Amino acid sequence: MEFVVKKGSATKVKTSFLVAGVFEGKLKKGALSELDEAAGGFLRKAIKSSEFKGAAGTSLMVSPATGTSASRLLYVGLGAESKADGETLRRAIGGAIQKAKAARVKELTLAFDTFEQKKLSVADRARILAEGVLLGDYHFDRYQTDEEAKKTTVPTKTALLVSSASDDVDAGIKAAEAICCGVILARDLVNEPGNVKSPDFLAQQAVAAGKEAGFKCTILNKAQIEKEKMGALLGVAQGSEREPRLIVMEYSGGKKSDAPVVLVGKGVVFDSGGISIKPSEGMDEMKMDMGGGAAVIGTLTAAARLKLPCNIVGIVPAVENMPSGTAIRPGDILTSSSGKTIEVLNTDAEGRLILADALSYAARFKPQTVIDLATLTGACIVALGYHATAILGNSDRLVRDLIAAGEKAGERAWQLPLWSEYTEQIKSDVADVKNIGGRGAGTITAAAFLQKFADDYTWAHLDIAGTAWAESAKPCYPKGGTGVGVRLLIEYLQGIK
Ligand code: BES
Ligand code: MN
Ligand code: ZN
Repeated sequence: MEFVVKKGSATKVKTSFLVAGVFEGKLKKGALSELDEAAGGFLRKAIKSSEFKGAAGTSLMVSPATGTSASRLLYVGLGAESKADGETLRRAIGGAIQKAKAARVKELTLAFDTFEQKKLSVADRARILAEGVLLGDYHFDRYQTDEEAKKTTVPTKTALLVSSASDDVDAGIKAAEAICCGVILARDLVNEPGNVKSPDFLAQQAVAAGKEAGFKCTILNKAQIEKEKMGALLGVAQGSEREPRLIVMEYSGGKKSDAPVVLVGKGVVFDSGGISIKPSEGMDEMKMDMGGGAAVIGTLTAAARLKLPCNIVGIVPAVENMPSGTAIRPGDILTSSSGKTIEVLNTDAEGRLILADALSYAARFKPQTVIDLATLTGACIVALGYHATAILGNSDRLVRDLIAAGEKAGERAWQLPLWSEYTEQIKSDVADVKNIGGRGAGTITAAAFLQKFADDYTWAHLDIAGTAWAESAKPCYPKGGTGVGVRLLIEYLQGIK
């Protein structure tokens, strides 16, 4: 998608598809009512008859847009002005893009002034509109050979129509392009099928992203992982024909002496459950079990493109969880790289095993903060559904900052408690810890398990089981990988010293 900034008036701009934002309520004097008057007063009449009132998620199409120089005019609802935020804008634009796609137009124009929000700077408004375009336009059709079924062709160009051009608008668009490059990479990685997506494939994708965006990438192979004595990671990997990898990414945008933020992402390229095998229904979706790893690779990509002034390390343990004659069994005891022993009572609770070794590895970077992301528990979907990421950690301050960053970025997160009582549930009779905690509070006991390996630093855990994959299309994403985490983390990283 190519962006251009155009100076001019909405009534005169030549375009196939003009998009204007409408807040709920009375039509105020100004750019919007001028446009409506020129175009025949359809908006005024629709508001009067309650056909279209500007509610969020609704729109009104005027085609042909006689009286203007546009072929079509789409009014998109932004809801009540007092309630609207960045995400409202993003979604409205995401919805508009899908309408533009359906109309098969080659280019479209956004009437920038009609999307003004008091809370947002010009740069932020431009960034959010461009994000809406890029995210709403996303499609994964790499494996579709039928040209008609592909949706890649249109539209290819978006104009932001402004009354006065400013550097802030250009800066906002540039930022959106950098961030969405990371989000889109994360989505692509999640959407790749399991047969293509081996642990080494994921590693090579990270290497390529590092070369392109500007971060260092080191890959540990099985022998090197053995040298690190990562018995928990190796235990999960041993059932698969495909060897594990530990992907280590380093972005240095800060001073040498600045302690890095370490991001750790679960990279299970396919989770069959192992010997504790999952039911076949819905198992296909478990190709998304590397959504945390994808978010980490995507975040490093976006951070490097944005040239953020901080140091970031990304760690992705990449494995496949398969049942076989060499797979771990329920009852096996593994020794992690920390020296702690783990009783594996369910081989389907594999994410916490690989994260245990990755979290121990994180300590060598002397981090200011460690944040892990993982599609860790089905219980998270029971607790929060598909609308929020669960967040737990050993620092309320960090948890609060991450929730606030998510709120700003349009990626909601909600805290669950991590009281010491929950740790009782993962006590083992025969080892230091067991990998399941019984019926209650599955998301919390999983986090309590991770905490045992994250005790040396400030740490938070994001369970993205409900948010990494969309069951159905939304304005800013089709069904499939969402790339969740990238926007939240970038917002967080932009706020640290
Ligand atoms: N990858 C799954 C969790 C998951 C489930 C993610 C649904 C996304 C959607 C994880 O490895 C898993 O299988 N967890 C088990 C843990 C249990 C055995 C304690 C679960 O949630 O059932
Ligand atoms: Mn599992
Ligand atoms: Zn899993």
